Amino acid sequence: MESAGRSLRAVRPLFEMNEPQTPLSPLSHIPANVFCAQDYEFLAQRFIAAPSFAYIAGGSAHDVTLAANREAFAELSIVPRLLRDVTHGHTRLELLGQPMPHPVLLAPVAFQTLAHPRGELDTARGAAAMEACVVSSTLSSYPLEDIARTGGPARWFQLYLQPDREITLDLLRRAEAAGYRAIVVTLDAAVQRPSLRALRAGFQMPPHCTPANLQGYPVPEAAPGAGQSPVFQGLMRAAPTQDDLAWLLEQTILPVLVKGVLHPDDARALQTMGVAGLVISNHGGRALDGAPATLRMLPAIRAAVGDGYPLLLDGGIRSGTDIFKAIAQGADAVMIGRLQVYALSVAGALGVAHMLRLLREELEACMAMAGCATLADIRQASLIPQREEPSC
Ligand code: FNR
Repeated sequence: MESAGRSLRAVRPLFEMNEPQTPLSPLSHIPANVFCAQDYEFLAQRFIAAPSFAYIAGGSAHDVTLAANREAFAELSIVPRLLRDVTHGHTRLELLGQPMPHPVLLAPVAFQTLAHPRGELDTARGAAAMEACVVSSTLSSYPLEDIARTGGPARWFQLYLQPDREITLDLLRRAEAAGYRAIVVTLDAAVQRPSLRALRAGFQMPPHCTPANLQGYPVPEAAPGAGQSPVFQGLMRAAPTQDDLAWLLEQTILPVLVKGVLHPDDARALQTMGVAGLVISNHGGRALDGAPATLRMLPAIRAAVGDGYPLLLDGGIRSGTDIFKAIAQGADAVMIGRLQVYALSVAGALGVAHMLRLLREELEACMAMAGCATLADIRQASLIPQREEPSC
């Protein structure tokens, strides 16, 4: 009995109840103890309420894909090269005809007032300071027009196709009028399992976090009939179809990208439909839990769509070397999701700009050490799997 009692006490609880802890107010300076972009992830835990942090950090369900995204980067090594002249080096690129000084965009992330009272407005200001393109979410906590006014000229709008095409069209026209330069249609989130991490932390969306862009539109009716599946006859009845996407492509002269692509056949089909580019994404591990890491699917998708077709990748990028690896595997550019929110929570616009600067500096250092003067050179760079015999 005695030993059984001891071992029972030694068992850790299934999950730790978060102790109530008041989050710190955002700083108006860059903290001295941030040495790399990922440091913001650790610091953010003191600046974001614990349930909200669990919601942001978590993936869907058991976090299998969330972990896989990071593991895929760890499984590749970059082979350094010597005596290469990179003194003319730069990180410039052109994406969809738009010049960019570096290949790092900010991914659409909903409800950023969870992390900072000025939310997306400060994110847009921080991105502008680093000339980074912001992809603004349909579910932002500030209206897309306000975000456009606050940020720089490099902005794309992420569109969730609405069950009512008139609402979709209105969102599209508003984005066009506000000067967004591309539309990113996210297709992988019609069904999302909740994050177990967020559920266990007791997360509920606070009343001040609402989808500002959707205010004033009628709320769609998605309830299934009696005895029907809430998934098949509920959520999926309202989900976008191929016809919806084809219709959207006819409504705008802006380039339309699709986000959430993981299968090479889907990539080819979307390319054939006239989609201008793809974001290889599993929603940062928040869509199908068990989906593969984005980095693992990238080479097959690049092979399917060929060179010259715009491919972006997101999911698990935490450093400049991760960006290098994504480009080496076939991406033209990358998008940063959670890190932007973490940096935002710690130091607002300054934090976002600083995080982007750290990533860019790391990318440049990595390029120099790998003998790459341009992003095109990275595509030829040598990556080897961590655990296999090198073939170079
Ligand atoms: C997201 N993501 C997302 N994607 C999208 O298309 N529209 C959205 O509104 C959101 N909202 C959102 C909220 C939160 C809290 C997170 C963490 C993510 C997914 C996002 O664009 C991106 O795909 C991932 O975040 C990339 O992975 P990392 O960089 O967070 O690892």
